[in-house]
Formats: sequence, structure tokens, C-alpha cells
Amino acid sequence: MEKKELLYEGKAKKLYKTEDNNLLIAEFKDDLTAFNALKKGSEDGKGALNNKISTQLFKILEKNGIKTHLVKTLDETHQLVKFCKIIPIEVIVRNIATGSLTKRLGITDGTTLPFPLVEFCYKNDDLGDPLLNDEHCLILNLVQDEGVLVTLKELARKINSILKDFFAKRDLILVDFKVEFGIDSSGEILLADEISPDSCRFWDAKTKEKLDKDRFREGLGSVKVAYEEVLNRILKTQ
Ligand code: C5P
Repeated sequence: MEKKELLYEGKAKKLYKTEDNNLLIAEFKDDLTAFNALKKGSEDGKGALNNKISTQLFKILEKNGIKTHLVKTLDETHQLVKFCKIIPIEVIVRNIATGSLTKRLGITDGTTLPFPLVEFCYKNDDLGDPLLNDEHCLILNLVQDEGVLVTLKELARKINSILKDFFAKRDLILVDFKVEFGIDSSGEILLADEISPDSCRFWDAKTKEKLDKDRFREGLGSVKVAYEEVLNRILKTQ
């Protein structure tokens, strides 16, 4: 399968058409951005690490009944994925309060939430990805009907429960994460995009060290070493 014309370029990935209209090639970039792309950087090998991490996590989720866009890994930085129309909603799940939640609501950083909190944000860089409630989603026609929002929340909670347990066994706390979903040609909702330390927060269970993109956001040093540690723990057999 070969890359044809570039369909989309995001902050961390490029999507290319292929000779098959139902399949795309996703390329994981080494670029890092934060604060609505006001902070930019790059680390050699970051894309390859995220490709490996996301592939492993999508395979685990598939095994647990979550349908995803992943078809197969092609090489270090490329995946073959099913074409789907991305729903422009970033679905965020939080187990522990940190980041924008603490700033927005004044909850003390590090507070364990009484239950996993699911939030929706509008996937719109020009507007700075604002928080949305269900009615905003309907008024903006981001989904067909309320049922889709219910499904997105159910899928997000299921993904959280699978991954939270998986990482707990590897001494990693899944603090929060963002996922995106798409709709394929048969109308099925698929988990799309990626799940990686670019889109999740992971804290070491013992030291509480941050092993995710907050290292870049907060200038805490190399992300690569931390992402390698996350991959090694994912690959650790139980
Ligand atoms: O910044 P905030 O606290 O809202 O982020 C919550 C989670 O969602 C973090 O894991 C962050 O990495 C992820 N996120 C993301 N892309 C965004 C916004 C948040 O991956 N545009």
C-alpha cells in the first residue's frame, strides 16, 4: 500500500489517501505542540514511539470489544487505517484533576475524582478547542442526534476502565486522556486518531513522575525517555 495525495495534516500526524478509498495511511510526526501551537518543538523518534504505543493500545482495546480504525502497522512511523469521517468532538476522560480542569474549576491538582469525568471539547483550533455541553453539540450539528453523544460517553468510559486497569498493573496512573471518534462508510462509530503520551497523562504510581507531554508543556526535559518508559511498561508481560 502506497501513500497518495496528502488529505490532512494535523499537529502530530499526516493522513494520506491510498489506492483504496476505504483506507488511509497515517504518518506519526516527531513534532510537539502545546498551548494551541504557541509552543513548538520536535524530538527525533517521538513519532515512531507514539506509533508503537498507540498500536499496542488500540489492539488491547479491540480485544476488549472497542472497534477502532487501525488496520495494521506499516513501518516505524506509518499505520494503515480505515477511512472514517472524524466527529469534531474531543472526548476527554479524567480520573484525577489536573491541567485545564483545575484551572477552570479550582479543584486542587492531584485530587482523585469521585467517578471518571467525561468532557466534550469542540475540535476547532481557531476557537481554542472550547468546552461543549450536549446541547452545544446538537446546536452545532456536530452529531446526528443525542444517541451518538450517549454512545461516545459510553465508549469513552469503557476505554477508560480497560486502560486504567491495564496501566495500574504496570505501575502507571492513567490521569486523563483525549480520544477522537469517526464514522465509517457503514455508519459505525470507530475509535480513531491515536492514544499516546501526546494525548494522555501518565504518572508513575510510586514517584508521581510525569511520563507524558506535560514534560514538553512544562519544560521538564526530554519526552523521548519518558515515552520509551511508557512503551516498555506496555510491552511488559504480566
Ligand atoms: O489540557 P487538559 O487538562 O484539558 O487536557 C486533558 C487531557 O486531554 C490531557 O491528557 C491532554 O493531553 C489531552 N488533550 C489532547 N488534545 C487537546 C486537549 C487535551 O490530547 N487538544
